[in-house]
Amino acid sequence: MSNFARIPMADLHAATRPIEAARGLPNGVYNDPNFLLEERDRVIAKTWAGVGFAGDLPEPGYVQPVTFMGLPMVIMRDRDNQVRVFHNVCSHRGMIVVSEAGPVTGSVRCPYHSWTYGLNGDLKGTPHIGGVGVHNTAGFNCEKHGMKEIRSQVWFDVVFVNLDGQAAEFADFIAPVTTRWQTYLGDTGLARMRREEEGGTVMLDVACNWKLAVENYCESYHLPWVHPSLNSYSRIQDHYHIMFDDFAGQGTMVYNLSETAGTSLPTFPEWPAEKMKEAEYITVFPNVLLGIQADHTFAIVLEPVTNERTIEHLRIMYVGDEALSEAYRAHRAATLESWKIVFGEDVGVVEGMQFGRISPGFKGGVYSPVLDNPTHYFNKWVANHLIASAH
Ligand code: FES
Ligand SMILES: [Fe+2]
Repeated sequence: MSNFARIPMADLHAATRPIEAARGLPNGVYNDPNFLLEERDRVIAKTWAGVGFAGDLPEPGYVQPVTFMGLPMVIMRDRDNQVRVFHNVCSHRGMIVVSEAGPVTGSVRCPYHSWTYGLNGDLKGTPHIGGVGVHNTAGFNCEKHGMKEIRSQVWFDVVFVNLDGQAAEFADFIAPVTTRWQTYLGDTGLARMRREEEGGTVMLDVACNWKLAVENYCESYHLPWVHPSLNSYSRIQDHYHIMFDDFAGQGTMVYNLSETAGTSLPTFPEWPAEKMKEAEYITVFPNVLLGIQADHTFAIVLEPVTNERTIEHLRIMYVGDEALSEAYRAHRAATLESWKIVFGEDVGVVEGMQFGRISPGFKGGVYSPVLDNPTHYFNKWVANHLIASAH
């Protein structure tokens, strides 16, 4: 019996009921050891998932191997500055081609028999394929044996992939978010986002299923107890829910911009003056968590390592080149530190929820009909995709 068959359909349907009558997702989708691969093929492969950051490959000629839900991939920035994603597998005998991130000169080379590939995936060299000293052979056409590309798109510095190649165009998929955030970012906000060359990153290795990280990110119900210092100025009642299409999260009316020695970081020029303290936090289903404030943004890619372990990769971006100058070093450090504290505070609860799902005394749980709406919205999205995949 497949792992999916062990998940009772009735339990999935229970998550799709109206929130007052709904139950959460069954324990198996969080802790059945092999469910992750089923979920990859049944849910995640059909949409756009985050696998990395274009800014991690700062210049043409950079490559970065990543493993996403068990699949070896490589992100490559070619000589024309185009970022692409490939299955990181040699067309010859299936060896992993790229094992180290960083710049490469020329092409990438498979370490097994030295076949070489251009950074656009083209197979370039097949040494001795026709016998010693003979580098081609009759009937073998290099053009047919390049690295296999995965449909991908860069947005908000996140490298998204669509594994099955059948999802909607990325621009159409993300349009509801860009439309919503037009109010804050205007036409130029995305192009102004800048990463620090060094720093501006956080990595958290968390013992929980990736979905629990999403569920926790989407709600503000836990603020008073898990984030007492944040809650002192940004209380539950200052937050509102966000739920539309493949996105859910929350917004706040009272974000405190970072101030050091009386100055503040540069802000987005089109961000309305009367909204300076507003901020929004949205999960792009399935696994990309975004945050926008007037003076910085961040993106978190959740890397599901196993069904019970997730690595959270965070990258902070500031507004324009000037924000990266020495004058703002302390502001940037303070901003990063405040997020490190907040996300660090969440680790105990997501790991605790994971452990709780071992218990036969827990069967999905229930929701606050007032404060858990985005969490329920996400769970419903997962359940509906799993149900649809059964037909
Ligand atoms: S497996 Fe890559 S060159 Fe042989
Ligand atoms: Fe939190």
